[in-house]
Amino acid sequence: MRNEKEEYQKRVQSFFKDADTNIEVISERMMQFNTLMAYYRCAMMEVETKFNVLNEQFSLQYDRNPINGMKTRLKSLFSIREKLEGKGLSLSVKAIEENLSDIAGIRVICSFTDDVYLLRDALLKQDDITLICEKDYIKNPKPNGYRSLHLIVSVPIFLSHEKRSMKVEIQLRTISMDSWASLEHQLRYKKDFEFSEKMAKELLHCANLSAELDNRMDKLREITIK
Ligand code: GTP
Ligand code: MG
Repeated sequence: MRNEKEEYQKRVQSFFKDADTNIEVISERMMQFNTLMAYYRCAMMEVETKFNVLNEQFSLQYDRNPINGMKTRLKSLFSIREKLEGKGLSLSVKAIEENLSDIAGIRVICSFTDDVYLLRDALLKQDDITLICEKDYIKNPKPNGYRSLHLIVSVPIFLSHEKRSMKVEIQLRTISMDSWASLEHQLRYKKDFEFSEKMAKELLHCANLSAELDNRMDKLREITIK
């Protein structure tokens, strides 16, 4: 465990090293980076707790859980650098905060499509949450068939000396949207394999089947609440 941590810190150090930096500068940059990542982790926990509270409340009130599962992830240093380089920017705490909104990510897997919107509305109603951007790939799926509701929100974290607003990317989707997206990702990014047009077509067909499955499940649920 300790070794893993030391290894990670070494990697962070090498990421912040360039020709004309001395050790003090590198240490300072590393400290700023580690602090920023800790803040993003806190923001992610805040949002996760908010969803857990909503799930708990629904479970008490209606005896059912709108949330089937949640996954959180902090973007890796490697991906951060890659994304910044793609935008023509070099790695710095300022560049991260000003240009990236998906450092802290939370994926909420919902039971039914209605639950996606119910959780969205309940979260956005909270007075400490600010919506920065919303992309509804459920109402308007991506051309490849991808469906999910994406929100970028800003949430405050309360530290001993200050209050900071941090951005969190939230992806809300049903179980079948999630299974399609996970498998599509695995297939598309398989090493040493050329992803063909034929496969893309077949995946789009699978996405349509998955949407059909959601529709039918949603209809079954409607019967149970009438
Ligand atoms: P980045 O890819 O992060 O640069 O995002 P963007 O600004 O294009 O935003 P968008 O909201 O479209 O996508 C953000 C995230 O959604 C991605 O990082 C994936 O996790 C997920 N996503 C978007 N499109 C797809 C897709 O076609 N397939 C899968 N499996 N996931 C997707
Ligand atoms: Mg992303």
